[in-house]
Amino acid sequence: MSHLVAPSLLSADFLRLEEEISMVNRSEADWLHLDIMDGVFVPNISFGFPVLNRIRTIIEKPMDVHLMIVDPDRYLEQFREAGASVITVHYEACTHLHRTIQAIKQTGAKAGVSLNPHTPVILLREIIGTLDLVLLMSVNPGFGGQQFIEQTYRKSRELKTLILDHGAGALIEVDGGVTQENARSLVDAGVDVLVAGNSVFGSPDPIATIHQLKHC
Ligand code: DX5
Ligand code: ZN
Repeated sequence: MSHLVAPSLLSADFLRLEEEISMVNRSEADWLHLDIMDGVFVPNISFGFPVLNRIRTIIEKPMDVHLMIVDPDRYLEQFREAGASVITVHYEACTHLHRTIQAIKQTGAKAGVSLNPHTPVILLREIIGTLDLVLLMSVNPGFGGQQFIEQTYRKSRELKTLILDHGAGALIEVDGGVTQENARSLVDAGVDVLVAGNSVFGSPDPIATIHQLKHC
């Protein structure tokens, strides 16, 4: 499988949201990445259901919803109803992660778990076989436009080994500081899904940048 590209809407111009989503529709992007922040799990607040419910009426690509919120179990059904194809929760925000994964699957969405930069991959050993996706944070979550953390290459290789050792099918997604410069090295390290916010929406030609990320 060739890798996927998921532009992160957090870096879009929210005054021109319809145009930005139309650009994603016209591009080679595979998914649209949507960052939900609660101001508690991360030191920032983004957007929520009213925005997602409008986006879902025009987006033609799967909505990849990244929940940076505490106690996500309360809202899983609502995110599914708001159009999420993939729902990713944070390892660090879930006390009963196995139960949360089952609950995501019951909504009909694909289930993902995200690891902060300090969280080792091995902590997923007991649940790796149940996951559709693992999101490795390559910056500390909360903001777009941060510097990529280099240890992510090693984490991705370790995660790939863990997945293969368990005969599991989880995709590896990397989120934070992804650019045309590091995209190829990430794919070589086993990454299946590249999330890119600032490098896409801050680009003078976002469609060309998405093309470069797709064909890195
Ligand atoms: C950060 C978010 C990312 C963010 C990435 O907490 O999870 O999805 O939008 O932005 P860039 O690609 O600019 O680092
Ligand atoms: Zn994200």
